[in-house]
Amino acid sequence: MAQRRILVTAALPYANGHIHLGHLVEYLQTDIWVRFQKLRGHRCIYICADDTHGTPIMLRARKEGRSELDLIAEMREAHISDFSSFEIEFDNYGSTHSDANRELCAEFWSALREAGLVREKSVSQLFDKQAGVFLADRFVRGTCPKCGAADQYGDSCDKCGSTYSPSDLKDPVSSISGTTPEVREAPHLFVELEALHDFLEEWTQAGEHLQPEIANYLKGHFLAEPLRDWDVSRPEPYFGFEIPDSPGNYWYVWFDAPIGYLASTREWCERAGEDFSDWWKNPETEIHHFIGKDITYFHTLFWPAMLKTAGYTLPKKIHIHGFLTVNGEKMSKSKGTFVRASTYLEHLEPAYLRYYYASKLGPRVDDLDMNLEEFEAKVNADLVGKVVNLASRTARFAAATGLSAAYPSDGDLFETAAAQSESIAEAYETGDYNRAMRDIMVLADRANRYVERNAPWELKKDPDRAKELQDVCTVALNLFRQIVVYLSPVLPRLAKQTAELLGQPIERWNEVETPLIGTPVGKFSRMLDRVETKKVQAMIEASREEQAESQSANEQEAGSPTLKEEPLAAEITIEDFAKVDLRVARVEAAEEIPEAKKLLKLTLSLGGDETRTVFAGIKAAYTPESLVGRQVVMVANLAPRKMRFGVSEGMVVAAGPGGKEVFLLSPDEGAQPGQRLH
Ligand code: MSP
Ligand code: ZN
Repeated sequence: MAQRRILVTAALPYANGHIHLGHLVEYLQTDIWVRFQKLRGHRCIYICADDTHGTPIMLRARKEGRSELDLIAEMREAHISDFSSFEIEFDNYGSTHSDANRELCAEFWSALREAGLVREKSVSQLFDKQAGVFLADRFVRGTCPKCGAADQYGDSCDKCGSTYSPSDLKDPVSSISGTTPEVREAPHLFVELEALHDFLEEWTQAGEHLQPEIANYLKGHFLAEPLRDWDVSRPEPYFGFEIPDSPGNYWYVWFDAPIGYLASTREWCERAGEDFSDWWKNPETEIHHFIGKDITYFHTLFWPAMLKTAGYTLPKKIHIHGFLTVNGEKMSKSKGTFVRASTYLEHLEPAYLRYYYASKLGPRVDDLDMNLEEFEAKVNADLVGKVVNLASRTARFAAATGLSAAYPSDGDLFETAAAQSESIAEAYETGDYNRAMRDIMVLADRANRYVERNAPWELKKDPDRAKELQDVCTVALNLFRQIVVYLSPVLPRLAKQTAELLGQPIERWNEVETPLIGTPVGKFSRMLDRVETKKVQAMIEASREEQAESQSANEQEAGSPTLKEEPLAAEITIEDFAKVDLRVARVEAAEEIPEAKKLLKLTLSLGGDETRTVFAGIKAAYTPESLVGRQVVMVANLAPRKMRFGVSEGMVVAAGPGGKEVFLLSPDEGAQPGQRLH
């Protein structure tokens, strides 16, 4: 097998946010691929960096009263620490705000200028006078010019799907200051992509660089018509690099971000004493980008065009993955399923997620669902129940004797598993980790059946069968080690533990072919505990709380409610409103229902003898004692609802996302129970 030289990148995470479980789909899958290539004996480097430029960083730094440099330095620390805790091992982790990147940007820029591809055009954009910035599309909300739907983004309407220019938006409001922005014209610099249409057609349709669904999508959408000019400059103020031949204008963040792949590689080359051109200008080097589907356009059209123009090697393959959902839905802050990497680590082992994602990832662009019950069940059944179990049931019997001096007959189990080496390797190579994990678990099942058949714990009881015991353990531990070699790109820590237990490092894929014999066996120490439901729940709860905290902090600062997260409902008439009979009520009694996690049972007085029973989901936020005697507002004409604990005859109104963040409404002093709200 010839040694390949492979440069691998994952997308550069934005410096304005923390790493979360969605990001990890990408950084873990890439890490697994790189570890696999290294294990196969190839020269492979894993390059990444923080993506530091753009308006959001600038605004956040301003809001926090510090410099952008200070902010990006802090985020960098946080990112690096999250990645290393998940055993994501970069060969270099750079920053787009580096000297190397500034120089390379200038080089790409000159190449585009020389090729005659840069053109100046005037652009009208919304400008927030109070904040003093041009507004990116996602910082403006207003009424759709086509269908009149309220509260839409600056570039497209959720309701009717039309796209438009932010200056056409009706009643625009800046999400930064809440003021009405004005339309301002400014010259922008554009790259004329259409000049590279033929090249892009050929490159994207060549068959080997992109997954077929991506190639088809590009062909049917962007490549079916002339490519639009790409706006690559932004006027001041902007946090980024000023364009050398266009003072007052900055490269748009998406111009300098992918060049960051080269800049980070160059830093690595300087440190490792390597020649940069061997990695980016040598056609024998394979370049592989791993990205999420949301940034396809930048990587499959703009980026090849830039590389081509500047004379660098084009990627051999762009591996595009789908998005993470949790329990079948988009990650949700209020449900606690938007989990930061650091929050996960406070509750659960990185190995669980590494394995679970691997078991779900395939070569296609499909979204990936993390079902929390399945997560727990799969990790416990496979990693703990099948893999680690092999060692934990046999290692201690072999500690005294070590492994047998010759490999015992095992019904060809070891050999059969070794024969699958190329097929499993191919699954890794093509990103079909799901198949790799399934095939490896079949091997683990066979190995476990061997252990059960030969019951070393029984042999142990009979001193005359010591040799047999040693042989059975020798087979079991070798099958275990073989499985761990196959899994080692996914589970590097387990590979290290196994190396310690058996006194042999795991460094090469072909170690699956040769059993260990006559070597000592160390003392077995715990390798991996089961996933506990309560820890998964604690992680979700902690994520929910983090969200509630940061939300209320934001609201205090911005003074604005969460209209963005929960847009206003459709318009109603006064008659519609009159249908809802809202009444002042006094809490006469409140009690806990031990079987119900969230509910309190309230007895509400509407004046005189009129009382109603209402079950309210406010247990996490209020104690029963704190409620008795206070006034609340209830929906008094709601149809009664039968619940597990009785009939609920209305509801009390409250604000807030739920959980501990529930806020009951009460009238000012003087209101009487039974009075209607109108
Ligand atoms: N900064 C750009 C990338 C520039 S590359 C020259 C960016 N950053 S990001 O932080 O938003 O995302 C980084 C990577 O994580 C992207 O590939 C993105 O697709 C991926 N993911 C972010 N959220 C994700 C999920 N919820 N699920 C799966 N991947 C996701 O884009
Ligand atoms: Zn619309």
